[in-house]
Amino acid sequence: MSRVLTALQPTGVLHIGNYFGAIEPFLKLQDQGNENFLFAVDYHAITVPQDPETLRKNLLFATAVYLAAGVDPSKTTLFQQSHVQEHTELAWILNCIAGMGELERMTQYKDKAKGKGESVSVGLFAYPVLMAADILLYDTHIVPVGEDQKQHVELARDLAERFNNRFGFTFVIPKPQIRESGARIMGLDDPEKKMSKSAPSEKNYISLMDDEATVLKKIKSAVTDSEGTIVYREHRKGMANLMTIYSLMSGSSMSEIEKIFEGKGYGDFKVALAAEITAFLSPLQTKIKSYLEDEDALRQVLASGAEKAREIAAKKMTEVRKKIGVA
Ligand code: ADP
Ligand code: TRP
Repeated sequence: MSRVLTALQPTGVLHIGNYFGAIEPFLKLQDQGNENFLFAVDYHAITVPQDPETLRKNLLFATAVYLAAGVDPSKTTLFQQSHVQEHTELAWILNCIAGMGELERMTQYKDKAKGKGESVSVGLFAYPVLMAADILLYDTHIVPVGEDQKQHVELARDLAERFNNRFGFTFVIPKPQIRESGARIMGLDDPEKKMSKSAPSEKNYISLMDDEATVLKKIKSAVTDSEGTIVYREHRKGMANLMTIYSLMSGSSMSEIEKIFEGKGYGDFKVALAAEITAFLSPLQTKIKSYLEDEDALRQVLASGAEKAREIAAKKMTEVRKKIGVA
């Protein structure tokens, strides 16, 4: 049986890129009889400033989304990162074997640090080390993530190997699992970059909570090109992205989509795409709202998840402390 682990930042908006890049692939693995871990990484979230009340709300929102999407607490240990203190403890130890150079090479850090100069936080720099700790604490075999997180999982592998070489076998070497098609949904207003909640405009993404009118408005303003046909070509970045989204929402293949829209224009395609998205989102939204009605129940799910996680994490940390000579 494999251990599968992934995590998401509890930072408000979750978009369809998060859903298809992270949540859906996790659901598939959950139902394949693996041992699963899923958590909201609140200590990653605070690497950029967070309003405390909003963060608290977002943690419950994220939990409601996972449950609504189909995460089953009887199959998946669902928790909040900060509830298991071993994550930050192991991160410190890994900080002491990680090199400045390898962290400086992390693309996400380079992107996020841009323009911040010397004021960029140490937390943002060390972010991938905390992620490595998240993964290594649980002897994780498989880490389902979007393409953009592959480099971080590779760092976790490097740190695990380095630690094992220095102190004797301690950590399982984890493997990233990147979703093949739709692994990277691109921004609607800028298909050169991935869809992201931190994009400057809300027109960049479809939030899981967007209503029908908002979806239609955002899709109508999505970037296309001047070719006018609904034909999948990789270099047609905007259209390729919209067709990918259509395919993920409807389950239709690219050639089926091309057939449906043969002889039709972008207007028809966009209206149909918006309808597919709404048909997908609206039952999900109903479930999310119903989970949010009982906050105590959500907190209870997180508390019992943390209890299960802590049992494993505590054992691993006892071993790690011995190996490095502090116990
Ligand atoms: P964001 O860029 O919106 O802040 P995160 O960095 O919090 O998203 O990503 C959370 C998870 O969702 C990660 O596993 C990431 O790989 C995945 N993900 C984020 N954006 C996309 C996207 N546009 N397409 C596919 N997966 C994505
Ligand atoms: N850095 C990941 C992201 O932004 C979130 C994350 C933190 C994660 N710890 C993890 C993902 C451990 C997988 C495994 O998407």
